[in-house]
Amino acid sequence: MKALILSGGKGKRLRPLTYTGPKQLIPVANKPILFYGIDSIVSSNIKDVGIIVSPEGREEIEKAVFEGKERLKWDCSFTFIEQSYPGGLAHAVLVAEDFIGNAPFLMYLGDNLIKENLRVFIDLFLEKKPESLILLKEVENPERFGVATLNEKNEVIKLIEKPKIPESNLALVGVYIFSPSIFHASRCIKPSWRGELEITDAIQYLISCGMPVVARILEGWWLDTGKKDDILYANRIILDEFIERKIMGQINESSVEGRVTIEKGSIIKGCTIRGPVIIGEGAVIENSFIGPYTSIGSNCYIRNSSIEHSVCLEGARIVDVPFRLEDSLIGRRVVIEKGKNMPQAHRVIVGDDSKIEL
Ligand code: TTP
Repeated sequence: MKALILSGGKGKRLRPLTYTGPKQLIPVANKPILFYGIDSIVSSNIKDVGIIVSPEGREEIEKAVFEGKERLKWDCSFTFIEQSYPGGLAHAVLVAEDFIGNAPFLMYLGDNLIKENLRVFIDLFLEKKPESLILLKEVENPERFGVATLNEKNEVIKLIEKPKIPESNLALVGVYIFSPSIFHASRCIKPSWRGELEITDAIQYLISCGMPVVARILEGWWLDTGKKDDILYANRIILDEFIERKIMGQINESSVEGRVTIEKGSIIKGCTIRGPVIIGEGAVIENSFIGPYTSIGSNCYIRNSSIEHSVCLEGARIVDVPFRLEDSLIGRRVVIEKGKNMPQAHRVIVGDDSKIEL
């Protein structure tokens, strides 16, 4: 079975970070979101992976995946498939038709992460042979998602995108297995109000034609990283789950408590670090507090500051900040520092769509 990862899209909700790079490469626990999906696909023994990319994101994603393949020893081949405009998930499926051919395939949204092993779902699909297998998760706010109604045999009888009054609390997770009938269904549907060919409409088309669509309800976590708070939440879950105490950097006069990974080449001096925390290669942190659920990217510089429950991308500088930073997503090479001689004023140069709460 082949896999198709959707790594195009606009990523509007993650602006301004997505002005300068694809959202699937934003790291959680210092690893691009996309890599968690690839890891899961590789461990399910799929060897042939297609990745949908946008024209703007293509180069960066190809480069990152090439480096990831070398470093993480992914035993599979990658084919990059350009989607000329973000026409929706079902549009992306049609763009990949030549790559997929006439066989079932697994589709994985490049900004989603799930805990469970994909092999379980693949085996269920091969055993039951439906037209489509979808994964669902019980959520508290189903109106934000595609919502499924099931019958007693766990077959899907209805699927609605972001219903005002949801019929269940079962949200459609971004991992699916399709037979090639999804290509015909995607050709038969019309764009939604937002101008996209929706995968929920294509699956609903299969259901309306009387084709079997079965569901499996996830027990472990599902992370959908569309917005800032989703990234912080994903960072928390991943740090909780995977971070081990591993100190490879240099530590002087500091207290490093709990599960903290400090990568090689980083220097920690006069700090308190309270895990779970990860600090990337070449970071320098002086006289600062790094609190739980924080990921500091490589080559960051932090001095006389406090930060917790945050994600700080590579090369950021946080210097002499007089208040604690929390619940923050800080982009590459961003500088946050106390102004000189202007204690009563803040001076900022901030890109379009940035958000600052003071
Ligand atoms: P979404 O998060 O639904 O869409 P988006 O990335 O355009 O984000 P926003 O709504 O904030 O503008 O996309 C889910 C995944 O599918 C994500 O990894 C991007 C990918 N995708 C495509 O590859 N092609 C597309 O046409 C769309 C809409 C999404």
